[in-house]
Amino acid sequence: MPANKKLLVLPGDGIGPEVMRQVRRVIDWMDRKRGVSFDITEGLVGGAAIDAHGVPLTDETLAAAMASDAVLLGAVGGPKWDKVAFDKRPEAGLLTLRKELALFANLRPATVFDALVDASTLKPEIVKGLDIMFVRELTGGIYFGEPRGIEDMGNGERRGVNTQTYTTTEIRRVAAVAFELARKRGNKVHSLEKGNVMESGLLWRQEVTRLHQEEYSDVELHHMLADNAAMQLVRNPRQFDVIVTDNLFGDILSDEAAMMTGSLGMLPSASLGAADANGNRKAMYEPIHGTAPDIAGKDLANPCAMLLSFAMALRYSFDRAEEAGMIEASIQRVLSGGMRTADIMAPGMARCSTTVMGDSILRELDKLSA
Ligand code: IPM
Ligand code: MG
Repeated sequence: MPANKKLLVLPGDGIGPEVMRQVRRVIDWMDRKRGVSFDITEGLVGGAAIDAHGVPLTDETLAAAMASDAVLLGAVGGPKWDKVAFDKRPEAGLLTLRKELALFANLRPATVFDALVDASTLKPEIVKGLDIMFVRELTGGIYFGEPRGIEDMGNGERRGVNTQTYTTTEIRRVAAVAFELARKRGNKVHSLEKGNVMESGLLWRQEVTRLHQEEYSDVELHHMLADNAAMQLVRNPRQFDVIVTDNLFGDILSDEAAMMTGSLGMLPSASLGAADANGNRKAMYEPIHGTAPDIAGKDLANPCAMLLSFAMALRYSFDRAEEAGMIEASIQRVLSGGMRTADIMAPGMARCSTTVMGDSILRELDKLSA
């Protein structure tokens, strides 16, 4: 574990600050009860940074992120900033962080908690025990490809352009992350692209195949067209273990996978860069959910995804798998006890606020460490 555990906390917009507050309570708990302490800096990102500084990410905050062992981010965006220039919108702050920190591998677990199996829109027998690890490429593809823009064609027509590009290196490094993860799980990788239509997809398939032959032939590898995968995800999601795909397909399909679990409010993510000589990676952890402006500030939001994101930080950045497991187990227990925030409320359960969910999780943590 790094001697100096530098954590940059960026609550962001909407429900970001209130779910992050529950993480701060758990961080304090870790300090008091487990002797795990962090050197914490807090900053602004997204709309909050626009309001204070006119930009979604200041150079100072970016520098703080570069100097941290991990960044914890709440969520960014909201209707309040709809009229802001496109390159200054809240989401641009998030994209700059991903790109500048070179966080090319985005891990999005889609797991169904037993207590929440009925919250899924799919039948319980389809999703029970579901445990997929999505690995989305995060710093390449059509999100960043050049040329891009909206051009005036001079005849009253305009043309919007984005470019999908992938290089050998970009494909191999993210595929390697997927293969490594698979070895610690079900040992199976599905690689998704549209190689039947797109050259970048064809290259993706070829490079994943080559890397597999060279270094990971012990892992079961399947290639699947991304549209077929969208269908297979709702037909028989348990056929998947690790899925690796590009930035755009990963954005779309990870939302689909997430929704199968019943609540976006339960799902964390980790974005990782390349390992340095000491094996440390730049990393950012954030829940999958957005800012939920409609319920922001009302103490209604589900803090579990944010707490589980912190658990991922403990596991992947700070070598504290035991404490990560304690957070996950505490959440399981609170759910099994019938406590539910509004987003996962079900008949016969006890509806609770963000704060009370936090209280309950802290109580379970106390019991686990007693
Ligand atoms: C996500 C989000 C972002 C993305 C937005 C907010 C830019 O949808 O993290 O999945 O498209 O990557
Ligand atoms: Mg998305």
